[in-house]
Amino acid sequence: MGEGINDYTRYVVDLRRHMWMGGVETDLRRLIWQIAVTGKYISARIHESNRKLAGFKNIYGEEQLSLDRSADDIFKSQLQFSGFVREYASEEQDAVISCGKGDEKYFITADPLDGSSLVETNLAIGSIIGIHKESVFAEGRKSMVAALYITYGPLITMVYSAGKGAHEFVLNREGEYVLSQENITLKERGSLYSPGGLRKDWLPEHLKYVECLEAEGYKLRYSGGFVPDINQILIKKGGIFTYPALQKSPRGKLRLLFELQPMAFIIEQAGGKASTGKDYILDMKVEALDQRCPIYIGSRFEVEKAKEFLSGT
Ligand code: F6P
Ligand code: MN
Repeated sequence: MGEGINDYTRYVVDLRRHMWMGGVETDLRRLIWQIAVTGKYISARIHESNRKLAGFKNIYGEEQLSLDRSADDIFKSQLQFSGFVREYASEEQDAVISCGKGDEKYFITADPLDGSSLVETNLAIGSIIGIHKESVFAEGRKSMVAALYITYGPLITMVYSAGKGAHEFVLNREGEYVLSQENITLKERGSLYSPGGLRKDWLPEHLKYVECLEAEGYKLRYSGGFVPDINQILIKKGGIFTYPALQKSPRGKLRLLFELQPMAFIIEQAGGKASTGKDYILDMKVEALDQRCPIYIGSRFEVEKAKEFLSGT
């Protein structure tokens, strides 16, 4: 039989079908779908901003928001009326926002537009979402049921995990998220390293760890955007991303709730690990919205190796 519409539909698995076939619970499926669709609106906003919104007036004379504030508004308004979200915690807000009637099932965390300053240089940026079944002030391992991130690059891609593997989708020209990789699995050991923070500010143990990676020939890959940097490790099936403790900021830079927990959830589902250098990220209890932690995330070998170097600190 020649190639036709039937062949196309037979081989293309879109996000909704994938979640249904994978047995993701109905409400969670609908919520993940809604978040993925919201990514399209955010991408549209990035495009129409022509790189910058803050301080500009639109055609109606209204002051425009920065892109990250604007992405936050879009997520908030989409999720508020979804019927599935009880609370929304965002990196752009200093308190948790209650949504809906109070009996909804899920608690959401969002870094609505991570790395938004990279828009100017036309590098990839992303949205990071965590989905919890109870209050977010807990260990991720207890409260999280799913996580996803969207990468806005030359293509828009989305990776989600609802606790049964990590799967990548690409947004096609018809506006559908189409499965590109199912059950992404990291190798035991990779060959990329992505080190955040200035070398002069690193602690001696961390410096020794990085020197050890360099001596073993790991390739440097650091864009300055957490989403594309993690995505690179995941799609290349291994390596290590780290944003360590620094001399003047022992808790590093990245936020446990909005950035680290969702990525740790996805990377663990892909067979990797994520730690602070001592404890696993998903075992860290969230005490405050803006809590930061050092991070070592990627394939198992490199994350465990970091623990050996840092155990004495
Ligand atoms: O959200 C913080 C962030 O922009 C991340 O996307 C990124 O990994 C990190 O900061 C980069 O930090 P630095 O500019 O110090 O390398
Ligand atoms: Mn961020």
